Amino acid sequence: MADVILKDLKKVYPYQDEGKKKKKSTESKEKANLQITEEGVVAVQQFNLEIKDREFVVLVGPSGCGKSTTLRMIAGLEDITSGELYIDGKLMNDVAPKDRDIAMVFQSYALYPHMTVYDNMAFSLRMRKIPCTDDPTKTRKLTPDEIDNRVRQAAEILGITEYLDRKPKALSGGQRQRVAIGRAIVRSPKVFLMDEPLSNLDAKLRNQMRAELIKLRERVSGTFVYVTHDQTEAMTLGDRIVIMKDGFVQQIGTPQEVYSHPANLFVAGFIGVPQMNFFDALLAIEDDGYSVKTSHAKIKVSDRIAALLKARDVKEGAVTLGVRPEHFILCSPGSEGAVDGKVEVSEMMGSAVHVHVNTGTSDVVMVIPTLDLSADYVGKFKNSSGLTFTFNPDSMHLFDRDTGNNLI
Ligand SMILES: Nc1ncnc2c1ncn2[C@@H]1O[C@H](COP(=O)(O)OP(=O)(O)OP(=O)(O)O)[C@@H](O)[C@H]1O
Ligand SMILES: [Mg+2]
Repeated sequence: MADVILKDLKKVYPYQDEGKKKKKSTESKEKANLQITEEGVVAVQQFNLEIKDREFVVLVGPSGCGKSTTLRMIAGLEDITSGELYIDGKLMNDVAPKDRDIAMVFQSYALYPHMTVYDNMAFSLRMRKIPCTDDPTKTRKLTPDEIDNRVRQAAEILGITEYLDRKPKALSGGQRQRVAIGRAIVRSPKVFLMDEPLSNLDAKLRNQMRAELIKLRERVSGTFVYVTHDQTEAMTLGDRIVIMKDGFVQQIGTPQEVYSHPANLFVAGFIGVPQMNFFDALLAIEDDGYSVKTSHAKIKVSDRIAALLKARDVKEGAVTLGVRPEHFILCSPGSEGAVDGKVEVSEMMGSAVHVHVNTGTSDVVMVIPTLDLSADYVGKFKNSSGLTFTFNPDSMHLFDRDTGNNLI
């Protein structure tokens, strides 16, 4: 029903007291990685994004990177310092939150404790006025039947029909969070804004509610902007993910794009569990392509990656080599590109073993699927036993050592 366009959005939180302002006005500093300028703290800047109708976009990044600020600017709970915000083609910068046709769900459920689940959901509808069908310039209240229909339909979608007569204190955390989402659904808004709605739940409930949200979006029409600091939540829920750091967007892409082709070292380290391994390396041009040399081994760059490097005219020099834990392969000592190490810790996860290996100069984490393991390897994951490994050169990532940008 609505697309949302963020055009060069910026948010500066002005200093509250004048004394502080004067002290800072002489220079612009970076404190805790955020821009502290003479106007105040720059929480978000250069934010450009076009969210399509019914798209599910997730904003993800570490604490303080500006996710909630961005969401609150869309909601109208925070002034926009500069830039433009459009919902459904209309400029929203100066439109009051109640007139933006959005519904927000927060981390704390904030249900009314003295009201039943039914009344918690019906409450905002009773206050609400909608345009009359015969004369759209006039408004009217919803009838009790219309309210009842909406509440029951939302309860049905969320599987909370049987709790409609209960008070919130008689519900579990997951059920309460469903009611909070129900309160948003009954309003059938153009845009759902959700700020870490699952982070108060325990791990099992969170997984369950994540699956519920995936089903939910099939059943309600509306565009979703969802904030989380959990990369797994971002990867599983988002049609597209926006990765933020220190107020700046680092990359926007589908889960597959940001995983396979992270724009820079920060995204590479943030997306994927366990984290990508990084090694200092030297990129060299050879007669027939490129090679990468680390303190452990020299690896020939695959033809596909060499062609990409050549097309970008990447020169020889210091790079950071990135290898995802799932791209290591066990091999026999002495084979091409083989690295020897010692097992420090191994964690059996069932479908895979997470093996922490020390090579003398680096700590490497690898994920070895148990299906691929022949019986002779099982004993090798014991602490301090030797392990020889390599990786598929076609899955390597290369980053500029100075800028951290992806070179491929
Ligand atoms: N009202 C405010 N006044 C001044 N600075 C603020 C205000 N609200 C937030 N900030 C600052 O703006 C930056 C971004 O905050 P924001 O709440 O958007 O981060 P976040 O990404 O949502 O983090 P978290 O994951 O911890 O919720 C932070 O450095 C924060 O300290
Ligand atoms: Mg936040």
